[in-house]
Amino acid sequence: MLDNSNFPNTFFFKNKLLSLNAVESHNVYGERLMNFSQKQYREWNVMRSKLGAGIKKGIENFGIKRDSLILYLGAASGTTVSHVSDILDKGFVFAVEFSAQPFSKLLNESKIRNNIVPILSDANKIENYKEIVPMVDIVFQDISQKNQVFIFIENMKRYLKKEGYGYLSLKCKSIDVTRKNKEILDESEEILKDNGFTVIKSISLAPFEKDHYLTIVQFNDSPNKIDVNIQQRSREFDNSQRRFSSNNDNRDSGHFNNNNNNNDKLNNNFRREKKDNVEYRSKNNNSEYSSRNNNRNNNRNNNRNSSSENSNNRNDFNKYSSNNRNQERKTNSNSERKSYNNNDRKNKNNKSNDNSNFESFKKSQSNNRR
Ligand SMILES: C[S@@+](CC[C@H](N)C(=O)[O-])C[C@H]1O[C@@H](n2cnc3c(N)ncnc32)[C@H](O)[C@@H]1O
Repeated sequence: MLDNSNFPNTFFFKNKLLSLNAVESHNVYGERLMNFSQKQYREWNVMRSKLGAGIKKGIENFGIKRDSLILYLGAASGTTVSHVSDILDKGFVFAVEFSAQPFSKLLNESKIRNNIVPILSDANKIENYKEIVPMVDIVFQDISQKNQVFIFIENMKRYLKKEGYGYLSLKCKSIDVTRKNKEILDESEEILKDNGFTVIKSISLAPFEKDHYLTIVQFNDSPNKIDVNIQQRSREFDNSQRRFSSNNDNRDSGHFNNNNNNNDKLNNNFRREKKDNVEYRSKNNNSEYSSRNNNRNNNRNNNRNSSSENSNNRNDFNKYSSNNRNQERKTNSNSERKSYNNNDRKNKNNKSNDNSNFESFKKSQSNNRR
């Protein structure tokens, strides 16, 4: 009656994707529960989950096992993470989210499911969670930010085991609304390759998710570790994107199609910029701030003209930057941190089972940590 999917503990029933419910009679986001042969399953809404959409489209399973350790970036309130938790009946998912509101739901879910480790953090700040996250088998990312590819790379370099796999949900329009999805995909794949990852495959997630690809990579080389922080790289990426978009005629010889030169150029620029350290940072922070402000003002003036591509672009950017500022404010708020820490402590104290599970897991992992 149920057909196996390519992933553990997930099945198809009449074209619907299901996961074996790890917590009986409990649903997470209003999804239907179904019983077959004395087991309970949750319907996995593939319109609300990039991994779900990928599985529904028949993507092969690269490396996800019942006992895997998965670092999941952009967990939101835990819709997909809860299904990952169903898959990992012997593993753990380390779920990173920087927005306090969805995080509180994720936190509640983690009290019920003992294999979700919720982490309130910006995924750009990879060292923030080094005490919690061990080397993992899989890095899964669903973050719709302009610098999403760099966040993915940084986290894989820091946390992915050799021969582990990375799954990137690439939202092209978050990188550049004005360019074709395929161009963004090609560039992103090149950047991944330049950083030592083998791109195994990319599939479009249409019709379930518009403008999205799911790209799977494997870490089998030793990528050059570049001692430059992610913000600098992202800025360089933004600049090169601007250069790239403003030069349509020269796209074939553009910055990102010129692979080796591309990375060399990036790295040289970063090294040069790093030398100027303090001056560079303060200058850039100011200019970044003022350019955001200009954009906000421009956006106000252009709101009436919102159908034009440029104004879409600005809207997108402004949404991103204002969201970002709000999130920064939220996550920087001491009271929220305190309440998270308290909750976390309470949670740990209350859940003796979960606690012993995770604590013994942590002990067993501590030797493996870098
Ligand atoms: C598309 S939603 C994720 C949906 C989720 N993966 C699911 O399927 O249930 C993207 C999430 O990434 C979060 N996010 C964006 N940038 C982030 C960052 N730098 N660090 C951590 N989370 C981030 C957003 O707050 C948002 O909740």
